[in-house]
Amino acid sequence: MDNFTFYSPTYFVFGRGEEKRAGEMVKRFGGTKVLIHYGGGSAVRSGLIDRVKASLEGAGINYCELGGVKANPRSSLVYTGIDLVRSENVDFILAVGGGSVIDSAKAIAAGALYDGDFWDFYSGKAGIEKALPVGTVLTIAAAGSEGSGDSVITKEEGMYKRGAGGEALRPKFSILNPELTQTLPAYQTGCGITDIMAHLQERYFTNTDNVTTTDRMIEGLLLAMIDVGPVAIDNPADYEARANIMWAGMMAHNNSCGVGRSQDWNSHNIEHELSALYDCAHGAGLAVTFPAYISYVTKMAVSAIESGSQDEAIWERRLKRLSMWASRVWGVIPDGMSDEEVITEGIRRYRCFLKRIGMPLTLGEVGGSEADIDKLADTGCYGDGRSGYMYGFVKLSVDDVKAVYREMIM
Ligand code: NZQ
Ligand code: ZN
Repeated sequence: MDNFTFYSPTYFVFGRGEEKRAGEMVKRFGGTKVLIHYGGGSAVRSGLIDRVKASLEGAGINYCELGGVKANPRSSLVYTGIDLVRSENVDFILAVGGGSVIDSAKAIAAGALYDGDFWDFYSGKAGIEKALPVGTVLTIAAAGSEGSGDSVITKEEGMYKRGAGGEALRPKFSILNPELTQTLPAYQTGCGITDIMAHLQERYFTNTDNVTTTDRMIEGLLLAMIDVGPVAIDNPADYEARANIMWAGMMAHNNSCGVGRSQDWNSHNIEHELSALYDCAHGAGLAVTFPAYISYVTKMAVSAIESGSQDEAIWERRLKRLSMWASRVWGVIPDGMSDEEVITEGIRRYRCFLKRIGMPLTLGEVGGSEADIDKLADTGCYGDGRSGYMYGFVKLSVDDVKAVYREMIM
């Protein structure tokens, strides 16, 4: 296991009706003038925004509001939010919604205290040193932004979807009421489950040895999603299934499962180009991307081993890890099978599960086409100052990334 530091200061309030404590929580963390930030309408229609406002009023806290965050949140609304925070002397941002709303809130929180263009954080030109405090009331279990120090924003000029991170972005508190997710369409529920599983797998595919504790935590959470995911799809009102998914979403991405080990994230980088170009849901893009990526990495490993690569031992270890994922998570019994056969069967079962929860499996199903592959790979590898490669569990050249996109055509 590698050395690590882990700072996860978010105060979680979990359970039925707990959004009524929003005012109390803002007060606890020193907010006096709040920006309530929310999305395209679901939180207004459900009455949640009114309940949050009543809670703030009950605690004697002033507020202003900014709705309209789109899924795959855009830079233009972040600039609007920064101006509003400065003109209204806001000292606390309360995100009411999903990952898109929370990420937009985090970008505003960091940008408002920065003497420059907030996009510098997302293009890698500057690191985030400070941010206004952010609290969240979560309405979809998916991105894990309620416990993470990350934020992902799309810049309209060029449609670059990029992430930024920093300890200052970790929410001060997050209110997690599983009841709030009962209004989600099955498709969004499926997208959330897929994203949660992807966050776990991005950590599972590591080149660090001797990480049994976090391996087993990840496997346990993946198995939990395989158990309860279909229950929530079939019965959206099932509180217990919703509750289990909601806590898994937080655990999958606050990095308690990712400490002390190298992580992958190639699938996320490849997917972000899909949701930037086609405006598909991030989880749907991952359902298309992740199995295709594992399939391609398996081919890379087999070919490197067969050709006697000087890194043969590293590729052998990678193949063993993929095979371990297939057998421990997807229940493939490896007797008499090669690692490649075990992994191929694991990918087949993974895709069956994704289909079961209503996810797309091909590039065409998220609006893509083969004609876009060069553009997708070039933007992902070179766009906005990138180096020409993606670095994760394996190093991918532009041609490798194109090959992963081709795996999505099937
Ligand atoms: O805007 P509204 O009307 O609220 O509709 C939303 C949106 O259309 C709807 N929704 C949310 N809660 C609902 C609901 N509809 C009915 N009932 C509810 N209770 O669901 C749609 C999706 O919401 P969104 O916030 O976009 O989903 P998610 O939480 O999956 O966030 C996706 C974004 O997070 C980024 C993704 O790239 C994407 O931009 N990510 C952020 C990460 C982070 N900050 O750590 C990590 C992730 O890997 C991810 O990249
Ligand atoms: Zn994700």
